[in-house]
Amino acid sequence: MNIKCENITLISECSSNDLHIERSGLQNAAFSENDMRGIVIEQCNLSNNCVRHSDLTGACIESCKLDGMTIDGINVQQMMDFYKNNFKENLTMNKATRKAIIAGNWKMNKTRPEAKALLDELKGMVADIKTVEIVACVPFTNLETALAATEGTNIKIGAENCHFEKSGAFTGEISADMLAEMGVEYVVLGHSERRQYFAETDETVNKRTKAALAAGLKPIVCVGELLWERECNITEEVIARQIKLDFFGIKAADLKKCVIAYEPVWAIGTGKTATADQAEEVCAFIRATLAKLYGADVAEAITIQYGGSMNAANAAELVSKKNVDGGLIGGASLKAADFTTIIKAAENG
Ligand code: 13P
Repeated sequence: MNIKCENITLISECSSNDLHIERSGLQNAAFSENDMRGIVIEQCNLSNNCVRHSDLTGACIESCKLDGMTIDGINVQQMMDFYKNNFKENLTMNKATRKAIIAGNWKMNKTRPEAKALLDELKGMVADIKTVEIVACVPFTNLETALAATEGTNIKIGAENCHFEKSGAFTGEISADMLAEMGVEYVVLGHSERRQYFAETDETVNKRTKAALAAGLKPIVCVGELLWERECNITEEVIARQIKLDFFGIKAADLKKCVIAYEPVWAIGTGKTATADQAEEVCAFIRATLAKLYGADVAEAITIQYGGSMNAANAAELVSKKNVDGGLIGGASLKAADFTTIIKAAENG
């Protein structure tokens, strides 16, 4: 139902669940003891609004005029100004406190002898690295070989996917518990190749993330826009939607155990890297989105990687960015020397 409201002075004790108000003049309105959960207010004039004793859980106010508006006596515009001047700046200041993680995603490559040879070569090259977490995410068939080859080293092993059910009639699938029992630490989830070729959705990524966390694994959850979506200027919408859906229902304490990999789909395996500024822009947006959903302290703690044609030549510039805390590397992780160069870049980043 669409209604035109003018000169509202008091809305009292009503439930406005999922109400959407747009392009309206609501100056001087007073909302008192309302259930305003899920309300969306866009492009409205909310000057001198007074909201009191109301439930605003999940409410979204965007592109509105806010001067003089108060919520329980707090001036909203002043609070926003404070956020812009302090908090948003600070959001990008703590790179040094986050864990830099360089993870290789081997995809469908390497037999067991080849996997052992690559890891044997790599472990010698990175033995002295202390400040970067090094992860090799390998095909299921290589996990046991990889765990044995890296035992006692600074290289952690991850899988490339897991199923969301604990066990049962799911032919061809591997559960999070099966991985955890082996000693696997990380698992890549929601990779664009899984979404593109195996019909994975944000819903199943969400379920897989929850299953991985329940099993004690650290999920590396991949998000990223298609080229078409970038060209249509909806990168932020796409990323925000993926973040909201993939982590839906996951508590802050668990979110802190996750890594997010920003992988623009158009940059994967194409040799087309996002520029360092493009990577930084979206990684910063991911952190700001997390800050809105979970608070600044959680957003500050999360490692956000860039992935997509990252290589020995471009890694240093990418990881030098304030919100790029590492990388998820495909092709270049299959060569020990290149992967080592990327790891060393992150050490200095
Ligand atoms: P490339 O580094 O080969 O582009 O692959 C990136 C990737 O998909 C990592 O998950």
